Amino acid sequence: MQIAVVGSGYVGLVAGACFADLGHEVILVDNDIRKLATLKNGQVPIHEKFLPELLNRHRGKRLTFSDDLHGAVRASAAIFIAVGTPPTERGEADLSYVESVAREISGAVDNYKVIVEKSTVPVYTSEWIRKIILRNGTDPNSFDVASNPEFLREGTAVTDFLFPDRIVVGCDNERCADLLRQIYQPLTSGDYYQRADSIPQPDRTSIPAPILVTSSKSAELIKHASNAFLAMKISFINAVASMCESVGADVNQVCHGIGTDSRIGPRFLNPGIGYGGSCFPKDVMAFRAVARECGYDFRLLDEVMRINEDQRDRFVRKVRSALWTLRGKNIGALGLAFKGGTDDIRESPAILILHSLLQEGCKITAYDPAAMERTQELMSSTVKFSDSAYEAAHGADALLILTEWEEFANLDLNRLRGEMKYPIVIDGRNLYDPEVMAASGFTYYSVGRAAAHADAPPAAMKNSTKKA
Ligand code: UGA
Repeated sequence: MQIAVVGSGYVGLVAGACFADLGHEVILVDNDIRKLATLKNGQVPIHEKFLPELLNRHRGKRLTFSDDLHGAVRASAAIFIAVGTPPTERGEADLSYVESVAREISGAVDNYKVIVEKSTVPVYTSEWIRKIILRNGTDPNSFDVASNPEFLREGTAVTDFLFPDRIVVGCDNERCADLLRQIYQPLTSGDYYQRADSIPQPDRTSIPAPILVTSSKSAELIKHASNAFLAMKISFINAVASMCESVGADVNQVCHGIGTDSRIGPRFLNPGIGYGGSCFPKDVMAFRAVARECGYDFRLLDEVMRINEDQRDRFVRKVRSALWTLRGKNIGALGLAFKGGTDDIRESPAILILHSLLQEGCKITAYDPAAMERTQELMSSTVKFSDSAYEAAHGADALLILTEWEEFANLDLNRLRGEMKYPIVIDGRNLYDPEVMAASGFTYYSVGRAAAHADAPPAAMKNSTKKA
């Protein structure tokens, strides 16, 4: 099928590349000429596993790049809108990009098209898109508007798209639902997975993917409610972690005990320094605003956001209580990205914590396997950057673990300790076993677990680690 995807950000680029891999002819449209030139030249603007392969495979063949939205709409049966919906000052989703794309699309509709919202948008957006297109004089029988939310995570975006838990399509009539069923048919029939060159199936996924056809309003709510629920799960366990610290319980044991209840499940129960990224903070706020607009006072979401902010403050207080005073202290920081596996630093709790520590007069040397370049653009005058975790630890009064990179869970502890001025590790991601850290000569603080103090002479130091 001929498909246009409008917006070559995270969702648009991944969706475009994956639709091409499913066998569709895709035009990726963006009005940023520089970005288009980068994509045409073979560069990949985001750090995402399998994306370079897919772009190489389809660039210039089944996947083309264009700034001509009108032409792309004319050529396509389905037009996916995947432009940004940044938060306004009041926390609502700013839909002005969606609206201007809808208006432009309306001028190009010549025969039946399905216009699909892929961006995360509040309930009623598909109705608004429909009104905007009608206002511009388009024949009501020549188009439908559908909602097809995307559930991909950064770092695993391609496999999340190709091996989804479910595909949600919100359509208000069968003609439109049929077209979306056809687009996803290679995934729902399982044909895609039979191909010799399909992207390998990740663990814990089941195929083929079920498709859930709902009303467009339900689909819009499913997306916001899913992100808000996951954020709530994280804030819930972070609140439980604070209780564990007060009473001397171990949050990992508590998580295991809770997560083995099949009604709750173990995923998204990792305590830490709070959720970040370009989705949860913005979407919880937007969902809160939508609820208010609809006449429901969703105060639970206020608490989810408050716990999330507190979690960062608690971590800074932990650093202060480990070091007594902060002014002039040398801090090594491992991790800048908002989570492991990505170079994205938007709303990164790591960066917010570093800002607080800089305000307190700390000197920071940071390392991240992927996000250094992006952070340097923002913090090159205030933070020193190093080439490895060990270099960041060199001469440090304390080392902070701020992002859950695999690499940080497998450090050579003897070497690390040898680099540091004082062997103090404050782990915001619970990557290590406190007993192992103490046996390796560290004073170790983590989240929701008792502090562990060096209890063995250097000769007895072990070097085993445990990934949380
Ligand atoms: C999130 C959702 O997981 C996706 O399903 C959704 O499609 C996406 O938002 C979106 O709306 O576009 P993403 O922002 O990539 O995906 O990141 P997550 O893996 O969900 O992590 C979000 C934050 O929560 C990170 O800062 C992470 O470190 C934190 N987190 C996650 C925890 O602190 N504990 C956990 O147990 C899990």
